[in-house]
Amino acid sequence: MAVGIFDSGLGGLTVLEAAQKRLPDVDFIYLADSEHAPYGVRTADDIYELTCAAVQRLFDAGCDLVILACNTASAAALRRMQEGWIPEGKRVLGVFVPLIEALTERDWGDNSPPREVDVQHVALFATPATVASRAFQRELAFRAIGVDVEAQACGGVVDAIEDGDFILAEAMVRSHVDALTRKMPKPQAAILGCTHYPLMLDAFQEALGADVKVFSQANLVGESLADYLTRHGDKIGSGEPAYLTTGDPKQVSNRATQFLRRQITFTAA
Ligand code: DGL
Repeated sequence: MAVGIFDSGLGGLTVLEAAQKRLPDVDFIYLADSEHAPYGVRTADDIYELTCAAVQRLFDAGCDLVILACNTASAAALRRMQEGWIPEGKRVLGVFVPLIEALTERDWGDNSPPREVDVQHVALFATPATVASRAFQRELAFRAIGVDVEAQACGGVVDAIEDGDFILAEAMVRSHVDALTRKMPKPQAAILGCTHYPLMLDAFQEALGADVKVFSQANLVGESLADYLTRHGDKIGSGEPAYLTTGDPKQVSNRATQFLRRQITFTAA
């Protein structure tokens, strides 16, 4: 049985890479909804409809577990999906919780009451839709007390990355970090709350300074997925991934190959 990994575009490849390294024998099917990316500037209703359609496509391809490797979909659509859309026998998981568990020094699935943690000043960088949803603050409040979160909606960064324009993406990262530090001069930790942003990790770290601990999702999600799969049955296969896109397969393959520095071939979803 394959595991689906979904993102609006190519950002979720950072999660897929980490998951593949951690779980080399699992068959992953990656779906990029490139035709409709970016999601971060869409309404919550729109994101919900698009995410359901994409997840259904992955169910149809044989996945019974789908990871939303997209914070925007996790923030704006996952709860609504879990409240009534997900069919019997299928699971859909988001990418927020592993990150918040790492930040709040919790083990996987530790649901004990909220408590004080080491960091008090946290910068969140995410898409406008993720910031508007306040899902990060909601999930954090279940686990930690006394943490001050300053969120920066990073408009434009995902478009620049999807277009392969890293010079523009870097300039935008610097200006978003600048805007954030005007509101919170000394963050102790920064959360890259969009799966595209690990591709700009160095730019974030450089702009924030070496003493800010930057939390990036990919490895954390790989770890918690491994944990989940060991608890929930056998997903061992040949380890051969499939890459699907709703966009132009040739163009998407070229960009993905450029990002990951190895040949990635997408086919039409
Ligand atoms: N990479 C996604 C996320 O984690 C989506 C970005 C977008 O489509 O705007 O939020």
